Amino acid sequence: MPAVVLIGAQWGDEGKGKATDLLSSRLDYVVKFNGGNNAGHTVVVGDEKYALHLLPSGILTAGVTPVIANGVVVDIEVLFEEIEGLESRGVDTSQLKISANAHVITQYHRTLDKVTERFLGKRQIGTTGRGIGPSYADKINRVGIRMQDLFDENILRQKVEGALDQKNHLLVKVYNRRAIGVDEIVDDLLGYVERLRPMVTDTSLLLHRALEAGQTVLFEGGQATMLDVDHGTYPFVTSSNATSGGAVTGSGIAPNRIDRVIGIVKAYTTRVGSGPFPTELFDEWGEFLAEKGHEFGTTTGRRRRTGWYDAPIARYTARVNGVTDFVLTKLDVLTGIDRIPVAVAYDVDGVIMEEVPVSQSDFHHAKPVYEEFPGWTEDISGARSFEDLPANAQSYVRELEAMSGARFSAIGVGPGREEIVQLHDLLD
Ligand code: GDP
Ligand code: IMO
Ligand code: MG
Repeated sequence: MPAVVLIGAQWGDEGKGKATDLLSSRLDYVVKFNGGNNAGHTVVVGDEKYALHLLPSGILTAGVTPVIANGVVVDIEVLFEEIEGLESRGVDTSQLKISANAHVITQYHRTLDKVTERFLGKRQIGTTGRGIGPSYADKINRVGIRMQDLFDENILRQKVEGALDQKNHLLVKVYNRRAIGVDEIVDDLLGYVERLRPMVTDTSLLLHRALEAGQTVLFEGGQATMLDVDHGTYPFVTSSNATSGGAVTGSGIAPNRIDRVIGIVKAYTTRVGSGPFPTELFDEWGEFLAEKGHEFGTTTGRRRRTGWYDAPIARYTARVNGVTDFVLTKLDVLTGIDRIPVAVAYDVDGVIMEEVPVSQSDFHHAKPVYEEFPGWTEDISGARSFEDLPANAQSYVRELEAMSGARFSAIGVGPGREEIVQLHDLLD
């Protein structure tokens, strides 16, 4: 099973980091192919808790080569902070490889992210403020700075000048901010060159050779399907392709290489930031899920919005990503609920729709049509096989599986590495 893609099935924070970590001992490479340090993955290994933003979660496992591929936007300051944080805790990061084609997030991207959000007022996206959108905008506008530009000072200076030409007008005249000097950006970036030199390479070729040699490569998506710039709830999305197609364009491997697509789906739903969310709860159950599930962002600390499981979203995710296996996470959080509602369809202004509507206005109006399933009260965190789960938990899982468009191959029953029920081998 050489090339495996792992993606988020909802609006992020499904437990992708934990799932990647779980598989890592059997992997040769873990590749981050989209997004940047807007991601936040919490991985719990024994008594140790790690918060990762930019580095792929496979970095925690010795013997895995972590790769930041061309589809990622890299804030170099954050990169080295994260590397130093891990090294100080004994994690070896020396194998890290970064694509020469990955784009760089600079100070002007962070500034623009924050000021444009402020200008949007009530219409704001609720971004993480990390400069993600402005950096991808520069990439598409062909005024971005790439990793390889750092190794040619003349080129770097020309490119920063080109980018700032436009942006300083915008910053000063529209947003009433100070102009940013070319030298401060160039000097800052050049300060990292020698440390970056051994890491920056042709990662497309590296991954091609690894796959040719029969090695196992996992492509770890950041964000999630409903935050994908093409297939998510636009404009309330991130600025990259978080779906499985993004693993191809974001890494330079071919689509026919991919053998398996693993979707990570939570047993309920959460969302950070603005945008439609049909099953969102504003009552004590919303509070229950947030508290019991510790639904506070790894990146910004914001309380995540919470709601019940949404089966049309899982089906949509299965379809647009080609999900072969789902990992259902955080089932333990639902323990103690008498009857558990699940959205099976939407009522859109009186019309019943079983699929995610293509019209954003319809999705904004969508009211969930719920079915209820009996809950359980037993602690399930010690379950290691499906039979260990209470009968009602088993039937909840089977009902969700039947509605979600792909088989459930593992079930998370706690944050720890070992707190998992395996149903099918995810890599075989
Ligand atoms: P990611 O962004 O998809 O990697 O997910 P996050 O790390 O942002 O959020 C998932 C949170 O749930 C983390 O704090 C994990 O430690 C935790 N987690 C993952 N799987 C489970 C599970 O099965 N049960 C419980 N209770 N927590 C889990
Ligand atoms: P992981 O990988 C949840 C959300 C932000 C905002 C929108 C756009 O941990 O699942 P951006 O800064 O990307 O321009 O913000 O996307 N967002 C996430 N929400 N999990 C994430 O990553 C996210 N990354 C971005 O909250 O609504
Ligand atoms: Mg997260």
